[in-house]
Amino acid sequence: MPLTGIDALVFDLYGTLLDVDRLDEQRRAVLPQAEGLVALWRATQLRYTFIRTLMGDYVDFWAITAAALDHAAACLGVPLAPSERQRLLDAWLDLRPFPEVPAALAALAGRPLAILSNGSPAMLDAALERSGLKPAFDLVLSADTVRRFKPHPAVYALAPAWLRLPAERILFCSSNGFDVAGAGRFGLRVCHVARDRAPLDRLGVEPDVTIASLADLPGLLAPRA
Ligand code: LAC
Repeated sequence: MPLTGIDALVFDLYGTLLDVDRLDEQRRAVLPQAEGLVALWRATQLRYTFIRTLMGDYVDFWAITAAALDHAAACLGVPLAPSERQRLLDAWLDLRPFPEVPAALAALAGRPLAILSNGSPAMLDAALERSGLKPAFDLVLSADTVRRFKPHPAVYALAPAWLRLPAERILFCSSNGFDVAGAGRFGLRVCHVARDRAPLDRLGVEPDVTIASLADLPGLLAPRA
């Protein structure tokens, strides 16, 4: 069934367009003994975004990412020299797109394309520039604007406000289960990019469509009337 009535496409960045596994390549180069650090780091980073937003408190995603790295290293008993810490943090600015992403974005051009990410504006700017994805996007929206993190509805509200479109005409694509749930609960149409084929979180929200990679998306969109 083609998806009809979609006037703009909005994408999560980390894990959906950019492959965060590259962080583990850097980790192997910097701290070969710290197996498991990246998984704990990423999980802690997201946990901190949830906790900060629930507390009604805010520091930007770069500060969250740094604090999460320090905590993950401490949990694993891994000492982190300042230069090692910096190299690991800088890896967030130099991630690679998943292989199918550039061609899929090119095939989707014609509708406005936007990023909607927790990343701070400086992080997003560097990551999009260095990955070569920047020219594909008309708009880059950061949770920093509302000083809350996903899945708070205020973050998803940025998309219809800035695209000047009703939420139901926007398709939001994410590989993160909490993000699929948050966007769907807010009222955006949702595409789950099920990269790891893991079962979707049970949060009472079903995506409009599930795909294995973004290569499947262009063929699912009905031509615009
Ligand atoms: C982002 C995280 C959630 O880009 O992946 O917002």
